[in-house]
Amino acid sequence: DVEHTLLLIKPDAVRRGLVGEILSRVERKGLRIRALELRTIDDDLARRHYAEHAAKPFFADLVAFITSGPLVAAVIEGPRAVETLRTLMGSTDPVAAPPGTIRGDFGLLVTENLVHGSDSVTSAAREIALFFPHFAADA
Ligand code: CMP
Repeated sequence: DVEHTLLLIKPDAVRRGLVGEILSRVERKGLRIRALELRTIDDDLARRHYAEHAAKPFFADLVAFITSGPLVAAVIEGPRAVETLRTLMGSTDPVAAPPGTIRGDFGLLVTENLVHGSDSVTSAAREIALFFPHFAADA
């Protein structure tokens, strides 16, 4: 079944000039970019996006980091897109992510870990609605 998922190329990756590299990996895998935007998000959107982490000790750092500069948000489409994107990204902690994955090849720190991908179809629908309120999957 075709799924949609939200990809964020985080401010560290934008600062390091890795946008093309990351989008290229997604496209070469066979996934399709259905929406794409470069923007600096505000505190409110950051807190909503990461609402499930609100009680975590690292929440303030996470919000400060994700709002620290422009990020690239994208809606990615494909068969089992949620899981496929997470496989391309590698584990949240780049130390554990194997070479060949985005975080395994380019990351060192769990906060500045380059990318975000929705963790389920349900999360994807919620996150896509936050970043792309006008996105229509069948348009
Ligand atoms: P992401 O997939 O965007 O979703 C939640 C983020 O929280 C995660 O990537 C990490 O960047 C961040 N995160 C998770 N665990 C920690 C931690 N222990 N310390 C700091 N940041 C963390």
